[in-house]
Amino acid sequence: MNNNHKQLVVLGSINVDHLLNVHKFPQAGETVTGTHYQLAFGGKGANQAVAASRSGANTQFLACLGSDAIAQDILAQFVQDGMNTEAVCQIPEQNTGVALIFVNNQAENCIGIYAGANASLSPQYVAQHAEKIRCADALLLQLETPLESLIDAVKIAKAANTIVVLNPAPAQKLPEDFLQQIDLITPNETEASALTGIQVYDLQSAEQAAQHLHQQGVGMVIITLGEQGIWLSQQGQGQHIPAFKVHAVDTTGAGDTFNGALMTALLEDQNLLDASYFASAAAALAVTHAGAQPSIPWRVQIDEFLEELKEQD
Ligand code: ATP
Ligand code: RIB
Repeated sequence: MNNNHKQLVVLGSINVDHLLNVHKFPQAGETVTGTHYQLAFGGKGANQAVAASRSGANTQFLACLGSDAIAQDILAQFVQDGMNTEAVCQIPEQNTGVALIFVNNQAENCIGIYAGANASLSPQYVAQHAEKIRCADALLLQLETPLESLIDAVKIAKAANTIVVLNPAPAQKLPEDFLQQIDLITPNETEASALTGIQVYDLQSAEQAAQHLHQQGVGMVIITLGEQGIWLSQQGQGQHIPAFKVHAVDTTGAGDTFNGALMTALLEDQNLLDASYFASAAAALAVTHAGAQPSIPWRVQIDEFLEELKEQD
């Protein structure tokens, strides 16, 4: 049941994930035999929208699907997840986006994507749905759909005082005037390195990268550091929040779960620190199961996990 009246719009990608578990990633020219194969719904935009909706946010999703058979199954799943899908558009004669994912014995992943219908999330599509962005309390974006459309969406949001949160994944450099308009940015180590030119691998380098992002005009920065947790920095004041200790089997979608759950907590008026704690709990639960969307927890599971931790204290 959704008690939160604030509105989140997630704009982003939808992928069909083909997951292959391998002992180690293949080298160039090498063939490796997988130990397990799974087809699962994914895509950074969809994962984040699902994570927000399952954790309790009123979530409207702006995205493009293909016209293949699996598109209907994905749409049906979104509805079961409680999302508003009225703006999700099916592109004729296109495949739904695809991700080919290796997961190794350390629960790390290595991903190749084909945009498919995600490439059709055009500035025209954004213009068509501008009112939804204007009416939203927050807009959550990633980088798996065309940048020109994201730039338009951010302009619309800023003009309407809609808070803009960017998960800058997959890693790429971004125009300065685009970054300046972002209220909160949530890169992982690789993405923070690509954005700032500072190699991020520990707390000290994360702090430096966060300062760099502040200088570029972003007021709030969260750098996710996998099992090391996060570096949270607001207006130049940084702090470390360790990750919860769990047995990780697949980290695919951990960052997406973190971002979706973070939005839920922020739209419930939790402060950034408390919201990050809630999001870290959701992400910790996600890494204990395989696949992106199959591993995203529901609100009741996050609350139970946090309650159990309180009882252990
Ligand atoms: P992905 O691209 O695989 O979805 P990501 O690289 O964007 O993930 P990470 O920094 O790996 O994101 O993880 C996001 C958050 O998930 C971390 O900040 C942490 O809170 C949680 N997390 C990730 N890995 C673990 C782990 N092994 N144990 C506990 N929590 C984890
Ligand atoms: O962040 C995880 C996601 O990245 C996967 O679901 C895959 O689709 C890729 O987009």
